[in-house]
Amino acid sequence: MSPEEMKAAAGKAAMAHVREGMRLGIGTGSTAEAFIAHLAEAVGDGLDITGVPTSERTARLCVEMGIRLESLDDVDELDLTVDGADEIDPNLNLIKGAGGALLREKIVAHASKRMIVIADDSKVVDRLGRFPLPIEVNAFGVETTRRAVEAVARDHGATGDIAIRTARKGESIVTDGGHLIVDASFGHISDPQALACALNAIPGVVENGLFLSMASLAIVAGETGVRELTV
Ligand code: 5RP
Repeated sequence: MSPEEMKAAAGKAAMAHVREGMRLGIGTGSTAEAFIAHLAEAVGDGLDITGVPTSERTARLCVEMGIRLESLDDVDELDLTVDGADEIDPNLNLIKGAGGALLREKIVAHASKRMIVIADDSKVVDRLGRFPLPIEVNAFGVETTRRAVEAVARDHGATGDIAIRTARKGESIVTDGGHLIVDASFGHISDPQALACALNAIPGVVENGLFLSMASLAIVAGETGVRELTV
């Protein structure tokens, strides 16, 4: 299977958990978009759900594909969120945020009774941290915040760059919430819970990309098919 076929397979398998009338958190990224394609097809066939998107990009795609959306505040509690991830560990702790949507993704996942993460095999790791950890930060005093993040990250074993994310022309990436992203390269993260607390204690940090104890099921597609991981 190609990476695209794996994403499509994981997205399709997630549909088995979607029920009539559900209020659904809808993730961001290429794997989430594979799920959205299957969801749109089911909606076209008469499935009635209400979606809450985790990014402006996902919102636009859903509208284009005929998926009815509401704001999180209007829906309040969600039945299920389906989203992708950058890394998944054996306890289904996640790194998310390569797409820059981690804040809305975490708010939506936190408001959901269940979170299912969908991915291809390459995202499954023994220990989090090979993928740089995205951290959403306020634009005010961003270099001061980056240095504070760097100090915390070094205390927690980071060995690589701690850098403000830029686009091709060198300008900082701005999130849907108007914030910036700092990417922190660890190599591995030995204590994700302690790291998450220390990062969020920095005033300029809005949220970090560690999603700990949020997902209850991972649907992972690989060469030999789709498998489900639970804790
Ligand atoms: C966006 C995310 C994405 O879910 C994550 O980056 C995975 O994306 P993809 O499915 O394209 O690999 O966290 O903020």
